[in-house]
Amino acid sequence: METLQRTLAIVKPDAVAKGAAGDIIATIEQNGFRIIGLKMLHLKKAQAAAFYAVHVGKPFFDSLSAFMTSGPVVVLALEKANAIADWRKLMGATNPANAEAGTIRKKHAESIERNAVHGSDAEDTARFELSFFFSGYELAK
Ligand code: CDP
Ligand code: MG
Repeated sequence: METLQRTLAIVKPDAVAKGAAGDIIATIEQNGFRIIGLKMLHLKKAQAAAFYAVHVGKPFFDSLSAFMTSGPVVVLALEKANAIADWRKLMGATNPANAEAGTIRKKHAESIERNAVHGSDAEDTARFELSFFFSGYELAK
């Protein structure tokens, strides 16, 4: 049985800057996700670092923080049966060179860093990431 889940999506600065946010949000809706929260933000360095705390110490961390603060992002709370895995599948592989046809990263990602979208990878990270950007009162019933 599939459980109703929530997950966090981010349209990253590269995709917002090139005007792909609308296409990505339409794709999200067309694939059966209910958007229960949405906002545009320009992250500060400390916020990006806190969000990506799991990657502290990795070689790409400083560059990733700089990229994520380089322009506005759109953050979305999504709801659907099996939302976490289904959103990861629709996103495609982290490295667009490995992304399958039909995925958002195949269509919009420029590189392994500038890869258009983010998605939570498990139930515990989804809970953390949703609460990082949204208070309960901000989410649609
Ligand atoms: O975003 P995803 O969960 O697919 O990948 P991750 O391994 O959690 O990495 C987070 C983000 O760091 C990626 O989406 C890329 O933007 C960036 N990254 C990078 O710049 N270089 C790498 N070798 C791996 C990740
Ligand atoms: Mg990840």
